Amino acid sequence: MASRRFSSRATRDLHLEQLVSPVPDLGLVAANGPNDPEPELVVEGDAVTRMDGRDAAEFDVIDRFVVAHGLDLVVAAEAMAYDDLALARMLVDVNVLRADLVRLSRGLTPAKLARVIGQLDPVELMVALKKLRARRAPGNQAHVTNLKESPALLAADAAEAARRGFAEMETTVGVARYAPLNAIALLVGSQAGRPGAMTQCAVEERRNLELAIRGLVTYAETLSVYGTEPVFVDGDDTPWSKAFLGAAYASRGVKVRFTSGTGSEALMGYAQGLSMLYLEARCLAVVRAAGSQGVQNGSISCVALVLSVPGGTRAILGENVLAAWLDLEVASGNDAIASHSEIRKTAKLMGQFLPGTDFVTSGYSVMPRHDNTFGGGNFDADDLDEWLTIQRDWQVDAGIEPVSEEELLLVRDRAARAVQAVFAELGLPPISDDEVDVATSGYDAREMPDRDRAADVEAADDLLSRGVSGLDVALALDRSGFGDVAEAVLGMQRQRVSADYLQTSAVIDADGVVRSAVNDPNAYAGPGTGYRLEGERWELLQSLPQVAVPAELLGDSAPAAPTVSDGKVASRGDDAAEVVVAVGPAFADSIRRTISDLDHRDVLDAVCAGVREGGGEPRLVRVRRVADVAFIAHEAARLSGSGVAIGLQSKGTAVIHRADLQPLDNLELFGMSPLYTLESYRAMGRNAAGYALGKRVGPVPTELDNFARAKLIVRTTLLHARETQAVVPGADSVELSLVGAAVS
Ligand code: 5AD
Ligand code: CA
Repeated sequence: MASRRFSSRATRDLHLEQLVSPVPDLGLVAANGPNDPEPELVVEGDAVTRMDGRDAAEFDVIDRFVVAHGLDLVVAAEAMAYDDLALARMLVDVNVLRADLVRLSRGLTPAKLARVIGQLDPVELMVALKKLRARRAPGNQAHVTNLKESPALLAADAAEAARRGFAEMETTVGVARYAPLNAIALLVGSQAGRPGAMTQCAVEERRNLELAIRGLVTYAETLSVYGTEPVFVDGDDTPWSKAFLGAAYASRGVKVRFTSGTGSEALMGYAQGLSMLYLEARCLAVVRAAGSQGVQNGSISCVALVLSVPGGTRAILGENVLAAWLDLEVASGNDAIASHSEIRKTAKLMGQFLPGTDFVTSGYSVMPRHDNTFGGGNFDADDLDEWLTIQRDWQVDAGIEPVSEEELLLVRDRAARAVQAVFAELGLPPISDDEVDVATSGYDAREMPDRDRAADVEAADDLLSRGVSGLDVALALDRSGFGDVAEAVLGMQRQRVSADYLQTSAVIDADGVVRSAVNDPNAYAGPGTGYRLEGERWELLQSLPQVAVPAELLGDSAPAAPTVSDGKVASRGDDAAEVVVAVGPAFADSIRRTISDLDHRDVLDAVCAGVREGGGEPRLVRVRRVADVAFIAHEAARLSGSGVAIGLQSKGTAVIHRADLQPLDNLELFGMSPLYTLESYRAMGRNAAGYALGKRVGPVPTELDNFARAKLIVRTTLLHARETQAVVPGADSVELSLVGAAVS
């Protein structure tokens, strides 16, 4: 036998992914692996003679680097003496200062760090991350690429990213030779969007450094490190070569962070049987030892592999916490596609989204995923409204701002025009007005006019050999009437000289002020402290373009002429064929249409026609003392000669009632008001007459829309509020008569 439920679930996107049971020997184990060494540190004199299960003579390149440059032997004895649980509890204890934890972290070996993090459950990890993040406020980073390497589109997307509040944005290339052109498009676009947004163009290290030294980019995060020696060797690197490269960037005033993350060693075939989290602890020890201010971590491109093993999501959050504990700025993954399943992707995201990291994603795809040459983009342009709504739901700042369509069109157009002008001034292949227009308002690069790509790459080579710099870009902008963008580009060159933004977790405000862990540190120490989304920023993050003002939502639907008229107090009828049709206090008065937009007069006509068709005689009444549909109908039934009545709320909900039933019992309830047509109301009338005349009556066929509530609950609330406002406590019901002809 096969279950149709199982086969239905098997078609879900989630099942495109492979889950596997742990295989520690291949490194396919998230944390607390069976082969991970016992934490251990033996110091003789000022030399480390054993660490994490190995004698000094057996140290590999990572051990040696960490011992030589990372471990703080002044605190090591004190730090290593704590037991794992004691340290784990200190991480979540709001009374233990971050600074004290950072100091202790410097004396802990990688195995100890991984062990302690391995003690925390997901919510504890979030608390620890909130507490340990270096900079006070969270931020975000964007991906800006497109398949055609269109400079106008790159500039427009960079401008949008900057305007939406991304503190950093990065591009890369499909074809290596494009690097300088893409870097320029991003530099110009970003500064047109918001002065101070930092940019990078991720390419091969030599070229990357060259672009940085020329001032065409302002940060680099391409310096990957790994947790085992063979993976380093495969990449033609050592911790020393990476440290040297990091210093080269920093010495030229370029912000650097390293990249690491769980899963890379298993993916590259040399996990040496060790757990992902332990190997990441080794990476982070190297990053610290190399003197980097920060790291892009959280599995990054290997996320789908880590999510294939049990506890993968938890381990990824754990590595982010570990980086923050080591006082590193954290740009936390969430950039590469983690899952096909929107539910699973979002569930994973919450680990970083709720506590906040320095950059909640290390690359949010500002353009549609199709154009993301970083490998897709976990969250993209089409997901923006969800992201903004989830920020609003949780009252959490995850670094993206709502901006109106109108304003973004202006910003995008200006950025595309600015890069068009720079290309012209620098003698690069022209950018057409058509390119500018499509870049401003189009969806993705498929709509962009094709460029002469041979001419572009030739011009890019020539640009490099001419030695064009960030200053040349600023001058070109200035000559072509983009003085403010020129100022901003020059401002970024100035930042390289003052170099305040080399401090841990630095971002640059629109006014050029650097905010970092030095002048704006995270001082979270429990409720009432640290960064909280409130005040102006909270106002901004809750005012999404699609938010309606309740008072405007219902509009004023009152037509000039009334369609009903209230008469004398209603008394009990004596006609056995009578069906009272009773409406709520606001019906055809302060409310004129049902929630499915049927005119109240038409509804009354339909119900009455139905009653007559069924052989009954309708009588209209308004119930004034109550807004609840059950009581409206029951009161009506007590007035009805037959004892049967229909009660109608103004939003369209209806009940067929009988006088001898309890008020909250009924003959038929029609609670799905959004689904009813005039034909439905007519059928209700027919049935009511049937009950009145004692016929056999089958219930009116109704449909079910389980999403109606999510869609319409606000309108329902507002309509019901109007109805209850019209209630006159204790008032008698009154006769109602129709005025004039029906409004069609
Ligand atoms: N560990 C180390 N480096 C990684 N990268 C992506 N994921 C990881 C990881 N888990 C690297 C890419 C590129 C840089 C941007 O990030 O290889 O060099
Ligand atoms: Ca990134």
